[in-house]
Amino acid sequence: MTELKIDITLASSRKPKPDFDHLEFGKNFTDHMFIVDYTEGQGWHDARIVPYQPLTLDPASMVFHYGQTVFEGLKAYLTKDNEVLLFRPDMNMKRLNRSNDRLCIPKVDEEMALSALKQLINVDREWVPTAEGTSLYIRPFIIATEPYLGVSPSKRYKFIIILSPVGAYYKEGINPVKIAVEREYVRATIGGTGNAKTAGNYAGSLKAQEVAEKEGYSQVLWLDGRENKYIEEVGSMNIFFKINGEIVTPVLNGSILEGVTRDSILQLLKHWNIPVSERRLSMEDLYQAYKNGQLEEAFGTGTAAVISPVGELAWQGEKMVINNGQTGEIAKKLYETLTGIQLGTEKDPFGWTV
Ligand code: COI
Repeated sequence: MTELKIDITLASSRKPKPDFDHLEFGKNFTDHMFIVDYTEGQGWHDARIVPYQPLTLDPASMVFHYGQTVFEGLKAYLTKDNEVLLFRPDMNMKRLNRSNDRLCIPKVDEEMALSALKQLINVDREWVPTAEGTSLYIRPFIIATEPYLGVSPSKRYKFIIILSPVGAYYKEGINPVKIAVEREYVRATIGGTGNAKTAGNYAGSLKAQEVAEKEGYSQVLWLDGRENKYIEEVGSMNIFFKINGEIVTPVLNGSILEGVTRDSILQLLKHWNIPVSERRLSMEDLYQAYKNGQLEEAFGTGTAAVISPVGELAWQGEKMVINNGQTGEIAKKLYETLTGIQLGTEKDPFGWTV
């Protein structure tokens, strides 16, 4: 492992810690952050850990105007033995570089980025919460900082990592949420940026979420951007269904985000010899399965919430109630196994934790 040389400036005073037993998602930040700059011709330089602080940026910085930016999300957990565990961080660094490629942002050295992340967590180790359902959420991101109003790739960037002790992403936790199938707006289309973790995908999703919330739903189920027919994602998560004993998730097609949790679930299900298929699934076919009594479970998967069961899907005026609005057996088992592996309380046959 390459040990990245990082200048460390420690904060002169530490912030008061939030109540670790009642943490909200993404509202509190630790004492330090990591920054490295990129300048064309020079590459990435001046890696440093500094006290958590606001950034000073030129108002013409390209990220503000054309959204040239990418981000990642992963979590650290503290084990009973006081060890900090990361879950498949190499997958996040690889995806960061795939997103970089799509957004014309220079690649980062994945091992260096991981080394920076580990050093930052070491500095802010006392911020890793231990209450059930909590973790330290890690947000690496890159922004285009060249002051220029022409539309082209920036010649300067900042790669920053911030840390946030978090509780459940959805207030419902592992309890089922109500979801509206989205008919008007689309999240992504093939050839677009749907499989990159970039801000625009999330900004573009807000309107649908706002409308759904007004109607009493937590989030929307996204259909494909071309035919408005095939199921893609749910909110900011990947989606799985149990249909007649088989677990089905939409096949990656370029507009669906390649979730680390999604991949882990596919591997776990295969390990358990549960039938699983990645394929195109239309809303019409899902509805038929529901009508035939074969739609047994539905759940979203992502780093932030891990598993979020879907208790109800609203489509064309009909409320499709799934598993009596209860958390299904598979969702429960996957949640317990995954969080157990992440926390170090379950065997990790795949060697996922670091
Ligand atoms: C996740 O499920 O981890 C996400 O992508 C949500 C995040 C944008 C908060």
